[in-house]
This record gives sequence, structure tokens and C-alpha cells, in this order.
Amino acid sequence: MLPLLLLRLLLLLLLLLLLLLLLKCESAELLSSERLQQQSAPATKVSCPQEHSKTAVCASFVRISVSKCWLLGILLLLTVAISWPAETVAAPRRARGVDLILPHRHHPRPLHHHQHIRSAKSNIVPLRTNQTQGRDSCGAIRMTTNISHLQLAHEVASNTREAVLCLTKEWLRSQQHNLSGEIQAYSKHSMAVKHPLQSEVEKVSFQKELDDFVYDGKVTTVEEEMPAIIESLLVLEHLYEIIEFDHMSWNCYFNSFVSFFHHNMHEALKLAGLNDACNPRTSEYNAHYIHPVFGAAVETIKVLTIIEHKYAQLIHLYSQSAGQS
Ligand SMILES: *[C@@H]1O[C@H](CO)[C@@H](O)[C@H](O)[C@H]1NC(C)=O
Ligand SMILES: *[C@@H]1O[C@H](CO)[C@@H](O)[C@H](O)[C@H]1NC(C)=O
Ligand SMILES: *[C@@H]1O[C@H](CO)[C@@H](O)[C@H](O)[C@H]1NC(C)=O
Repeated sequence: MLPLLLLRLLLLLLLLLLLLLLLKCESAELLSSERLQQQSAPATKVSCPQEHSKTAVCASFVRISVSKCWLLGILLLLTVAISWPAETVAAPRRARGVDLILPHRHHPRPLHHHQHIRSAKSNIVPLRTNQTQGRDSCGAIRMTTNISHLQLAHEVASNTREAVLCLTKEWLRSQQHNLSGEIQAYSKHSMAVKHPLQSEVEKVSFQKELDDFVYDGKVTTVEEEMPAIIESLLVLEHLYEIIEFDHMSWNCYFNSFVSFFHHNMHEALKLAGLNDACNPRTSEYNAHYIHPVFGAAVETIKVLTIIEHKYAQLIHLYSQSAGQS
């Protein structure tokens, strides 16, 4: 128990430190942008010295508030790094979140905003998922409930959902768009990603006043919910492998999403009492969806919204039944 306590303390310290850096960073950015405005310099290259490598890539694009999202992301990654037992198979196979400062994916994709494409037929194609020999299928997991694992999993789902939402909004802002506008623009389209939470995803609604997604559905038991959660996370991870992101979008906004999946997967597997991931069934998605990056971001927010809600409900359910017995 003691090392765990120490780690938490360390994390708290790091958090404070980063917060301090952020404050410094923001005021430095504000100052330099003000200065630039006064000089009416055309190329506003605001950079943040503390986050050198990442901002070097993003500096010319991103606004000041992005550093808040990055902070969130960095904190989450720190939590992952600290809480991750090295031997679990759920650990990232590739250090993708970190080493993608280098341009891996450079496929400039024009933004589609043509209303007339709305009637485009969807084109459902298979989304291949890896099958590992010797693993059970995701539907065949048996487990016992541990409420402290459930609480931790809820916390991770909640934090990563917040980070994903924040980064998505910042990404849209960087392209002079906003969430409600884009949701409206693509409301007639569906990416139709097939996974066990697909029918729930359709029930996640966007609330304009909150500028956020809401979901309120029933839960059953940990035994029934966990396989669906785990399998859906695996499918999302594969989805991010086939979508082509432009360089800036990937490096400045989306590369941390994969680490978020890993962290959620890690907690979900622990909750399910598994050391290893399971084999998801073959999935599919609409390859004609006109704005795949936006579609994937929304799908991610929706899935994490559902997962967070399910964990909260399960915690409620199991603490009640524990109280009665
Ligand atoms: C699936 O397998 C391929 C080939 O081994 C690998 O490159 C890819 O990263 C794997 N994807 C996932 C999500 O495990
Ligand atoms: C739940 O998990 C915690 C931490 O891994 C462990 O200490 C505790 O004994 C577990 N509780 C039950 C009821 O298994
Ligand atoms: C969001 O974008 C839409 C269309 O791009 C625009 O009409 C609307 O005013 C924007 N809303 C906000 C709050 O910026």
C-alpha cells in the first residue's frame, strides 16, 4: 500500500508542477501574442517553451487554450505511465502517442462541406480486427466484481472522455468550426461503426446548451457489460488505424486518443480480472462517411460517454447491493 501512496503523492506533485507551468506558459503566450499584435506582425508564431517538442509542431496553428487540453493529455499519460504494470499485455504495443511527433501520417484531406453529398449512399465495408491465437473471444469473459476497480475505471473513463471532448473542440476551433455547427452539418450521415455498444451510441444525444453529449441508459451487470466495453474499445483502436489524419490534426490533437483507449482498456481488463485482451469480432464501418476524422472523434466521445455512464451506474448498483448484504 505504501508505494501506491507514494506514487499518488508524486502524481499530485507533478500535477501541481504542471499547473504552474501551464499558468506561466499561458501568460507567456498571451504576452507574446499581444506584443506581436502591437507590432502587427503577420505571422503569429506563438510558442510555448515548456512544451517544446509538441508546440514546435503545432505552434503556428493552435490557439492559447489548447495548452489546457495538452495538459490534460499529459497528465493522463503520466497517470498511465505510473499506474501501468509493465507485464500486462494491454500495454501499448507501439509508443504511438509519443513518437508521432514525427510525421507518420501525412495525407492532407480536404474538408468536405458540401450539402449535396448528403444523399451519398453509405458503403459498409469490413473493419478487420486482429485475432490472437489462444485468446478467448470477448463475449466469453467471466468475472467477479471489485468495486475499487470499478471506481478507478470510472475515473479513467471520465477523465479521458473529458480530454477527448476538449481536444475535439480545440481541433474544430483550429479549423474555424465548432462542435454544434459540425454536428448539425453532418447530422444526416452516419459512420455506422459496428461494435457491441453501437445501438447505445445511437442513443447518445448532443445538447446544444451544454455543448456536450449526454446519455442515460440502463445497465445490467458487470459480467454482461464488460465484454461489450472491452470489445468496443478494441474496435475503436482499429478504427484509428485505418483513418487517415492530416499531419496537423494527428500530431496536435488525435495521437493521444490511442493512449486513452489503452488506458481505458487496461482498467477494463483489470476489472474483468483478465491479464490479456480478448479477440473482438470482425467489425465494419461506413467507408463513404464524408468526414472520417470528425466521425471518429464523435464516435470516441460517444463510446466514452456510454462507458462512463455504465461504470457510474454499476458503482451505484454494486454499492447498494453491498450495503444490503
Ligand atoms: C493488428 O495486427 C497488425 C499486424 O500484426 C499490427 O500492425 C497492428 O498494429 C495490429 N493492431 C492492433 C490494434 O492490435
Ligand atoms: C479489489 O481490488 C483491490 C486492489 O487490487 C484488492 O486490494 C481487494 O482485495 C479487491 N477486493 C475484492 C473484494 O476482491
Ligand atoms: C458554429 O458554427 C456555425 C456554422 O459554422 C455558425 O453558424 C455558428 O454561429 C457557430 N456557433 C458558435 C457558438 O460559434
